[in-house]
Amino acid sequence: GYDWADVAALGPDVAGRAVRVRGAAHAVRAVGRRVAFLVLRQGSSTVQCVVGGGDGGYAGMARFAAGLSRESVVDVAGVVSLPREPVRATTQQEVEIQVKKLYCISRATPNLPISVDDAARSEEDVAKAKAAGEQLVHVGQDKRLDFRVIDLRTPANQAIFRVQCEIENIFRQVLLSEGFVGIHTPKLIGGSSEGGAAVFKLDYNGQPACLAQSPQLHKQMAICGGFERVFEVGPVFRAEDSNTHRHLCEFVGLDMEMAIKDHYFEVCDVVDRLFVAMFDHLNKNCAKELEAINRQYPFKPLKYLPKTLRIEYDEGIRMLKEAGVHVEAMGDLNTEAEKKLGELVHAKYDTNFYMLCRYPSAVRPFYTMPCSDDQRYSNSFDVFVRGEEIISGAQRVHVPEVLARQAEARGIDVGSIAAYVDAFRYGAPPHGGFGVGLERVLMLFCGLGNIRKASLFPRDPRRLTP
Ligand code: 4AD
Repeated sequence: GYDWADVAALGPDVAGRAVRVRGAAHAVRAVGRRVAFLVLRQGSSTVQCVVGGGDGGYAGMARFAAGLSRESVVDVAGVVSLPREPVRATTQQEVEIQVKKLYCISRATPNLPISVDDAARSEEDVAKAKAAGEQLVHVGQDKRLDFRVIDLRTPANQAIFRVQCEIENIFRQVLLSEGFVGIHTPKLIGGSSEGGAAVFKLDYNGQPACLAQSPQLHKQMAICGGFERVFEVGPVFRAEDSNTHRHLCEFVGLDMEMAIKDHYFEVCDVVDRLFVAMFDHLNKNCAKELEAINRQYPFKPLKYLPKTLRIEYDEGIRMLKEAGVHVEAMGDLNTEAEKKLGELVHAKYDTNFYMLCRYPSAVRPFYTMPCSDDQRYSNSFDVFVRGEEIISGAQRVHVPEVLARQAEARGIDVGSIAAYVDAFRYGAPPHGGFGVGLERVLMLFCGLGNIRKASLFPRDPRRLTP
């Protein structure tokens, strides 16, 4: 009998064993008419299978193997053996399989639109090969995304989405350990939850509605509902109209909301514990994945402090002005200014991860709590990784009259959020929270440079398929 085995588990310790393996035909090479080498891939591990040769049997099978199209799903049954020459490829197992039986389970079209090897190549490798006069195919991002099911088979992509899963997992684990309850809020809602025009509108049985831009209003209402600490992992929809490297029309929101006792810094403290634990975990437990990503998309490890740096908005503005960057007084920071401030903070404090607190009220959403000592500022913060925003958070207004007044001042139709405002009329504790973009965290931790790489099937202003 041949026992099912995983490619990743095939090593010298199982030499001599009869195994059965299912994988993709990663590469096929015929040597004469009697021998073929078939490289089988499972996830990002590969193993070389030797078909034919030796006593001269299996010549028919070798010809069958030589005719297999790349990426076909194949079963082999055979004996694990030590190879004659040491294996060079980093992802390949150190043993071979001497094939006794071979089945093609699913035949891939011979005209693949992109090849996994081409898609796995780093831009640097392509540049190097070109300099050496070789012609290598470089697969551009649009083509990768058009044929994402093939592109996802590269070692870097296999690693990226395992890291994504870990980020989500740590988010849940840390918050659960701190007494938070996981919730789900509706994605079909009556109006914009963040203000602004970036909403997907739809018809809800004759009533105007939209896709939720965030769980903001309902996670706060959950606090009003007696849950002291809640979190949610769910889809967030933004009708972005410009193409950037960091905006998607649908992304995964990691949100939390909590009752606070004295100060919104209680929310910042959770950010601090959560993200330091997350980065520590990724560096420690995902070393193999980070290495695979680094091979295709080189990046420098993230620098972060054991206790996250907090600086005030005014201090940030002062640093930018000193560096000769023009910024508007009490205005929002644009992408360039944020990036520049990230560099200045890195130079001064040796960290790529920090919080900017106490933003002007005017640049924050209507539900944000103004500072008690100066209403022009707010109890709010953003968190930056490598000079780009991953989190925004704040204390919220829990006084219905103030909430209605602030909404009105921003041109929001208070009638459309009446149920939300009313939720604070029945007794509501002071509270705050934050929202994180899962893809942003992944993109910036791994220095991927484009958020589409951090989304399995990205939805951007131009892409609704695959
Ligand atoms: O800054 P945003 O819009 O804040 C909120 O949604 C608040 N309700 C959060 C809160 O609890 N106060 O979005 C939060 C995060 C951003 O920091 C960013 O990481 C991500 O969501 N994000 C996007 N990610 C991908 N594509 C987009 N278009 C994004 N817009 C925001």
